[in-house]
This record gives sequence, structure tokens and C-alpha cells, in this order.
Amino acid sequence: MKNILLSSKDLDKICRDIAKKLDKELKNEENIPVVVGVMKGSLNFMMGLTEHMKTDLYTDFIQISSYSGTETTGKVVMKKDLSFNIENRTVVLVEDIIDTGISMHFLIKFLKDHYHPKRILLVTLLDKVCRRKLNVHIDYTGKVLKNDAFVLGYGLDYKEFGRNLPYVCALTKQEIKMIDEKTSEKIASYAHTIKSKRHR
Ligand code: IMP
Ligand code: MG
Repeated sequence: MKNILLSSKDLDKICRDIAKKLDKELKNEENIPVVVGVMKGSLNFMMGLTEHMKTDLYTDFIQISSYSGTETTGKVVMKKDLSFNIENRTVVLVEDIIDTGISMHFLIKFLKDHYHPKRILLVTLLDKVCRRKLNVHIDYTGKVLKNDAFVLGYGLDYKEFGRNLPYVCALTKQEIKMIDEKTSEKIASYAHTIKSKRHR
């Protein structure tokens, strides 16, 4: 990929810096805090953060989805709920990127209304602030993006592609086209497998 925004060295520094700040912030917790990763995009960032944190903590995951390709649908779907009781605990909610703010606005309200955590600290690797539609309070940000280019890597995907890249890059139109070709091929062959099994 051509336009690298964050190298793996930059990502490591971001993780170490935010981990240090979180350790300081979580020094006097009565109950062990829970770091909650928003799947799937935040998984790499969450691992990077937690491996540098010295605080005792629990981890859990929640999965929501609002995107189709490079566009938000504006509707948030809950795909996997928490499996841990966060009541009266500080939650460190870890997100990959905040774009319109719709997902985090929905999720923070959902967690507060249903599970009554002590407080929620929101940490995001990237902030596409120029695209915001709903206001969201972010406690810690890795990098603010200056334009609204679609980004990929270190957990972030385009059509499920590119999550394993060890850096974050901005996609060019040609790269989007190249991924479109690769991913349509994969989906087509999977559909074929299901169809052929059903007709056995
Ligand atoms: P929001 O609800 O518009 O703030 O969208 C947030 C979610 O959309 C993020 O958690 C990502 O999963 C996805 N998203 C938004 N922008 C990008 C991008 O540039 N690359 C990859 N995923 C993105
Ligand atoms: Mg996300």
C-alpha cells in the first residue's frame, strides 16, 4: 500500500504512551477495571495497549457493525454483547476509529443504560473529526486524521480485507478497486461451496 499514515514504530509509540496515561488514570480503582475492545477493528490496538499496561485489569469484547464497504449505513447492529459484568467498574472502551460518532454514541448509551458501569473512558486509535455527526467525548486519541480518506490496517478493514497489515494506510482509488476484485472472488467461491453442499 502506498500512503502509510502510521508505521508499526508509530503504532508502538502510540500504544506505549496511552498505556502509561491509562495506568496513571486507573491508579486508585476500587474494583478491577475492564478493558472492552470493540470488534473487530480495535483488536490489534487493544492488544498493543494492554500489553504495555501495568494495571491489573480484565478484558472483554463487544461487536457492533454499521459499515457497508466505505460508507456508514447510519444504523448500528449489535452482533455480540459483553460476557463480563461491568457494573460499578471503570470500563476502558477501545475503538479503532471514530468517524460520524454514531457507533460510539449508540454503544456508550447502551452500556450505561443496561450495565451501569462506574464510568466509561473512551480510547480511539484514530479520530476522523471532520466527519462527525454526533458529538462523542473521547478520553485518549492516538492520531487525529486531517481528511476523510478511508484507512486500512492494524485491525481496520475494507470489506474484511487488510486487518492484518502491521501499519495504517490511506487507501487510493486503485487500491480500493484491487481489493474489490480480490474480495468479490472470495465471496463468490464461498457462496458456491454452500450451494453445492445444499444440493448434495
Ligand atoms: P462511525 O459510527 O461513523 O463513527 O463509524 C465507526 C466505525 O466505522 C469504526 O469503528 C470502523 O469500524 C468503521 N470505519 C469508519 N471509518 C473507517 C475507515 O476509514 N476505515 C475502516 N473502518 C472505518
Ligand atoms: Mg470499529
